[in-house]
Amino acid sequence: MGHLVSPSLLSADFSNLAKDVQLVNRSSADWIHCDIMDGIFVPNISIGFPVVSAVKKIARKPLDVHLMIVDPDRYLSRWKETGADILTVQYEACTHLHRTVTEIRNLGMKAGVAINPHTPVSLLKNSLAYIDMVLIMTVNPGFGGQSFIMESYNKIAELRKMIDSGKYKVLIEVDGGVDTKNARRLVETGVNVLVAGNTVFNSKDPVGTIRKLKRL
Ligand code: DX5
Ligand code: ZN
Repeated sequence: MGHLVSPSLLSADFSNLAKDVQLVNRSSADWIHCDIMDGIFVPNISIGFPVVSAVKKIARKPLDVHLMIVDPDRYLSRWKETGADILTVQYEACTHLHRTVTEIRNLGMKAGVAINPHTPVSLLKNSLAYIDMVLIMTVNPGFGGQSFIMESYNKIAELRKMIDSGKYKVLIEVDGGVDTKNARRLVETGVNVLVAGNTVFNSKDPVGTIRKLKRL
């Protein structure tokens, strides 16, 4: 399987979101990445249920919803109702991760776990059997347009080994500072899903940029 591309709406035009969702619809992107921030887990607040359900109405690709919120268990079924297809929680925000990811799957969504730059991939060793995706944060979560943290390559390679040696069916997604220059090395290191916000929506030709990220 080739890699997937999931453009992040965080860098889209929120005064004309339909236009940017339609742009992603007609592009070669695979998923649509929606960043949910609560102002507590991260020092920023983004969008919530009403905006994501509006996106769902017109989206023709699966919604890849990334929760950067504390206590995500309170809202798992709400995200299902809102239209999330893949629901990713932050490892650092979960006290009972197994319970959380099991609930996400029971609700009929794919379960992802995101880890911050300081969180070692080894902490996921005993969770790989129960999840569908690991999101390696390649910047500190909270904002679009930050620069990629180079240590992330070591984390990706280590996680790739863990997944392959255990024959787990787990995708590796990266998020933050992804661009048309580092995308190829990321995929070669073992990434399955590239998230890109700033690179896509602040380029002159977003559809062309998505195509570049897709055909490396
Ligand atoms: C950051 C978000 C990202 C963000 C990535 O906290 O989780 O999804 O949109 O943005 P870029 O691609 O601009 O670094
Ligand atoms: Zn994200």
